[in-house]
Amino acid sequence: MNAPTMQGLTLNEPKYVKNAKLIAWVAEMAALTQPKDIYWCDGSEEEYARLCQQLVDAGTFQKLNPAKRPNSFLAQSDPSDVARVEDRTYICSEKKEDAGPTNNWMAPAEMRATLAPLFKGSMKGRTMYVVPFSMGPLGSPIAHIGIELSDSPYVAVNMRTMTRMGAAVYDVLGVDGDFVPCVHTVGAPLEAGQADVKWPCNKTKYIVHYPETREIWSYGSGYGGNALLGKKCFALRIASTMGRDQGWLAEHMLILGVTNPQGKKYHVAAAFPSACGKTNFSMLVPPTGFEGWKVTTIGDDIAWIKPQADGSLRAINPEAGYFGVAPGTNYKTNPNCMRSLDKNVIFTNVALTDDGDVWWEGMEDDVAGKALPAHLIDWQGKDWTPQIAKETGAKAAHPNARFTVAAINNPALDEAWDDPKGVKIDAFIFGGRRSTTVPLVTEARNWTEGVYMAATMGSETTAAAAGQQGVVRRDPFAMLPFMGYNMADYFQHWLKLGQKLEASGATLPKIYTTNWFRKGADGKFVWPGYGENMRVLKWMIDRIEGANTGSEHIFGVSPAYADINWTGLDFTPAQFDTVTSIDRAAWLKELDLHTELFQQLAYHLPAELVQTKEKLAAGLAA
Ligand code: GTP
Ligand code: SPV
Ligand code: MN
Repeated sequence: MNAPTMQGLTLNEPKYVKNAKLIAWVAEMAALTQPKDIYWCDGSEEEYARLCQQLVDAGTFQKLNPAKRPNSFLAQSDPSDVARVEDRTYICSEKKEDAGPTNNWMAPAEMRATLAPLFKGSMKGRTMYVVPFSMGPLGSPIAHIGIELSDSPYVAVNMRTMTRMGAAVYDVLGVDGDFVPCVHTVGAPLEAGQADVKWPCNKTKYIVHYPETREIWSYGSGYGGNALLGKKCFALRIASTMGRDQGWLAEHMLILGVTNPQGKKYHVAAAFPSACGKTNFSMLVPPTGFEGWKVTTIGDDIAWIKPQADGSLRAINPEAGYFGVAPGTNYKTNPNCMRSLDKNVIFTNVALTDDGDVWWEGMEDDVAGKALPAHLIDWQGKDWTPQIAKETGAKAAHPNARFTVAAINNPALDEAWDDPKGVKIDAFIFGGRRSTTVPLVTEARNWTEGVYMAATMGSETTAAAAGQQGVVRRDPFAMLPFMGYNMADYFQHWLKLGQKLEASGATLPKIYTTNWFRKGADGKFVWPGYGENMRVLKWMIDRIEGANTGSEHIFGVSPAYADINWTGLDFTPAQFDTVTSIDRAAWLKELDLHTELFQQLAYHLPAELVQTKEKLAAGLAA
């Protein structure tokens, strides 16, 4: 076709692009956003190298020392564009009740009228990249296709790592296949002669979803979940509404395989809120005392889970890479992650060492007494020394600094990570970040109680989202920022799913809550966490195998000290008590917070959850 658009811009679509709807949409979006040209990504390695070099030439990327970190780059974002912007994220369903009280909502027509003038001419002076991607294995019946139009080459290269991106998507799409249209602009048009900046973005930001028409429109940010639209926008917010309508689940969950010394393998999906340990848990290295055990990664952030005819649940990871938190990661806390990062990585907002490598807070903690680097360039391009850090508290890396790396870099990658059939889930874990109150691990006595635990989960806010940090908020299912529809309807969806599985006579996955983050009087984490979380995982596996370990209390079943394998770890019964004790007064307050949540979600709130709360409250009062 290669017909010029209204502006005289040539579409330039490759011959293998034959989808009429796609071509018409690209032409329409080009007419709206008025880029200087259009580039159709093919996903090749040559293209990736070329775009990375272009980002280096533009000053967005710094190439790292190839002897230290081959084929890797560092991007330092604008200091105002470092995390997801939840207060700028909208679910624009026709009816407000369908977005529910936990989402920002605007009527679609009103939002379209708001966005139209912003997107008009927003790509002036920039290239529009057409980024074809598949969430899930290409061509598999569980996968879904998206096309992202973006004026950010940073987005294009990140999407190549994070998704199955490339020309093969067009074969799957064919002449009349369907795709989720995703429009992204940094909102920084360049007038003739205007010089560009390293990290273009706009103070005004909108991350907008139209669930009924399955569209995503993102304005003003170039960072992470705001801009890589396959991830949170598509694979969670839009996909959760698809799951509601079609009877499956899109969840903010890691998926791991755990194999015991006898070779028996289990699969666990775990929902922890942003920056609360999913990547870490999914790559766990079993500690001393767990010889012969093996943990393998299927996914580190998102799970699509579908019920099967036999009553089982099978899960896939729709992503192809990890956009993970750097600070805190080191050879001791997460050796598999460190090994994943040895080459072919894009780092965003970490610090640069004097020999052209990367550094972040916590990297020094792998070996006791290790010295801090004498000098760094921090994530904002400023000099950093241990002295400056001591005097000003300046962080070398932003707390939400991240790496983008392909799943195939992970030495612990599960052999089934790419299997379109997915893996059978044996247990779900829901785990918040709580300095107090919530015990290390609790097993729900039944599906409804598990759904209740997930629904009422609280967690302290982290640097993954803009705004205040360390504040406890309810984060149901770790999905608060990622729900595409009414939260109460989502609870009902989970309850209904359990009933359906139960009716088929299958054994339901067990449901657990965990908290790795209880602190002692000294303000330090009491539980050693990381690889040591294997001790808790093993207790869960014992329970799945029918072992009658643990004892029942008001909220469910938790292990006693003697129920955990402590070989290789010096952890006293007193310390165990600090992370497992149930403080009645604290729990009375906690239940008030559950009540508050249920008041907020009163519309369509399942009665079973209210009844469960009443049971727990009665137990606590007794
Ligand atoms: P998102 O990518 O934002 O969804 O986060 P995530 O859940 O994958 O978080 P990640 O595993 O990257 O962990 C984030 C932070 O939590 C890092 O600073 C880790 O060092 C820290 N962390 C992870 N696991 C543990 C743990 O078991 N104990 C403690 N104390 N900290 C942990
Ligand atoms: C999260 O915040 O949960 C993330 C990072 O996984 S981002 O993709 O930026 O949302
Ligand atoms: Mn996440």
